[in-house]
Amino acid sequence: MQVRLSVHVIGVGAIVAGGILAASTPSISQEGGAPDAGVPYVLPQSGPFNPEDIAIENSQAITDWYRSAHADQAAEAFRHWDADEEIRPVCAVCHSGEGFRAFHGLDGSAPGIPDKPIPTGGVVDCGTCHNAGLSKVNEIAFPSGLMHPVEGVEAACLTCHQGRTAGVSVANAVAGKNDDQPDPELSFINPHYATAAATWLGGYAAAGFHYEGQTYSGRFFHARPVSTCNSCHDPHSLKVEFETCLTCHQGTEPSDIRISRQSYDGSGDTSVGIKRDIDNNAALLLDMVREYAADIAGVPLVYDGNRHPYFFADANGDAMADQAEGRPVVYNAWTPRMLRAAYNWKLVTADPGNFAHNPPYALELLYDAIADLAGPLGVDMERLNLLR
Ligand code: HEC
Ligand code: HEC
Ligand code: HEC
Ligand code: HEC
Ligand code: HEC
Repeated sequence: MQVRLSVHVIGVGAIVAGGILAASTPSISQEGGAPDAGVPYVLPQSGPFNPEDIAIENSQAITDWYRSAHADQAAEAFRHWDADEEIRPVCAVCHSGEGFRAFHGLDGSAPGIPDKPIPTGGVVDCGTCHNAGLSKVNEIAFPSGLMHPVEGVEAACLTCHQGRTAGVSVANAVAGKNDDQPDPELSFINPHYATAAATWLGGYAAAGFHYEGQTYSGRFFHARPVSTCNSCHDPHSLKVEFETCLTCHQGTEPSDIRISRQSYDGSGDTSVGIKRDIDNNAALLLDMVREYAADIAGVPLVYDGNRHPYFFADANGDAMADQAEGRPVVYNAWTPRMLRAAYNWKLVTADPGNFAHNPPYALELLYDAIADLAGPLGVDMERLNLLR
């Protein structure tokens, strides 16, 4: 739907600070429509944005936001709880502006997981990021336990894009178990989705499973002009403007970018973007996980990226998930070694921007998982010619 916004949106004087932004209110003041239906947007109370002064930009911001994933009310990320008519508190923190505000105590409640479910229908609304209270949030807890200092709106991005697990969740699950022994107590650990902030902070936030004896790259500092989320992503459209990159890089799109003169994937091809090396190693790792499942764990698996929990059993090896009671059989022969590898694979691939957020960390996690599987599979690492 084409939303034509007129400047009178800003004219909707009354600012509802910390209120429930009714992004669900269909009337983003479309032309000719009633301008005041429920004051659809929470505008900043203070800070650099003075509504009167920024009428044009505001309307642009709304238009860009409205077309973005953050405003996409139809997305699974916002519709998942429709049948329940309310969002579980722990999920609402990242799946609704209202839940987010409750979590950080921006709605006057005590900070922490909301104490009751949050109504469905919310999105990542204006009042999520434009909230005077956000400036008082000066550190964000990551699933690994890391407390990372933040400034301003970064607090918002890092809250929601940190994923839900850390490598230590995997380490705990497999502790004391035999590396290559299938264990029915093990199940896939899903890092969750759009885990950009976790990737970006690398080994320091420890979202990946870290193999013993290895060291891992920390935060990808990149270069000063592109050191935060919003230096690359427009905060409203969420798009990455390639012009931003051209000061320092060449190519026609981000996936072309390469600085490294070494080949990580054994292809020897350094004319392509670093993304290609990461993608190739990820593909190799998934193949090796499959091979390991069949040969070592003894139950072949199929991966279905559209269906949680993604890994299904294929005992008869027909490349289709086995069915029981009309449902695919969830993979049930995990060994510690296989779980670690599959987890790192999923973490890296859960971030489509991994090559820009932290290419060294992505490459390290993949390499170590490949090397770990290579042993029992009898694969010669030398011959793969990969670089870590
Ligand atoms: C995901 C976080 C986020 C959301 C959601 C968001 N904004 Fe913003 N907005 C920002 C950030 C960050 C800036 C500062 C940009 C800068 O400094 O360049 C900004 C800047 C602005 C500005 C100043 C002009 C500009 O474009 O830089 C206006 C006006 C604005 N936002 C309005 C809105 C409105 C209205 C909404 C809801 C329709 C909204 N924003 C939703 C993060 C957000
Ligand atoms: C730390 C923040 C965070 C928490 C907590 C969180 N999620 Fe998410 N979730 C996200 C983000 C970010 C995405 C967006 C991924 C995308 O679609 O790009 C997402 C996506 C999803 C999706 C859509 C996946 C898809 O394939 O499109 C589902 C379903 C989901 N989450 C369920 C849940 C459930 C259930 C809970 C609570 C048990 C939960 N989430 C808690 C951040 C979170
Ligand atoms: C309240 C939680 C929340 C906050 C805060 C948040 N996001 Fe998101 N973000 C999400 C969810 C949920 C999705 C997936 C929405 C969907 O599937 O439509 C998403 C999607 C995205 C996407 C994917 C866009 C696409 O086209 O698929 C990008 C990029 C993004 N966010 C960047 C940011 C940045 C940068 C910030 C900080 C300025 C931020 N987000 C703040 C929850 C959040
Ligand atoms: C150096 C630039 C840069 C920085 C800094 C950066 N990103 Fe990205 N991000 C990208 C690129 C490039 C992509 C790949 C998608 C594209 O080309 O649009 C991407 C992809 C994403 C995606 C997935 C979008 C999708 O299509 O599903 C999310 C979510 C995201 N970034 C969030 C963030 C968050 C949150 C931060 C801060 C912690 C951040 N990004 C920092 C460049 C950057
Ligand atoms: C001010 C200069 C500068 C800008 C602007 C910049 N980069 Fe970079 N980029 C660098 C530097 C320097 C490195 C090497 C950093 C390192 O390895 O620590 C790098 C590395 C990278 C890499 C990894 C390349 C490799 O071979 O490992 C990618 C991918 C990348 N940048 C993407 C982007 C994207 C996408 C943008 C635009 C949104 C961007 N960069 C903007 C300076 C910049």
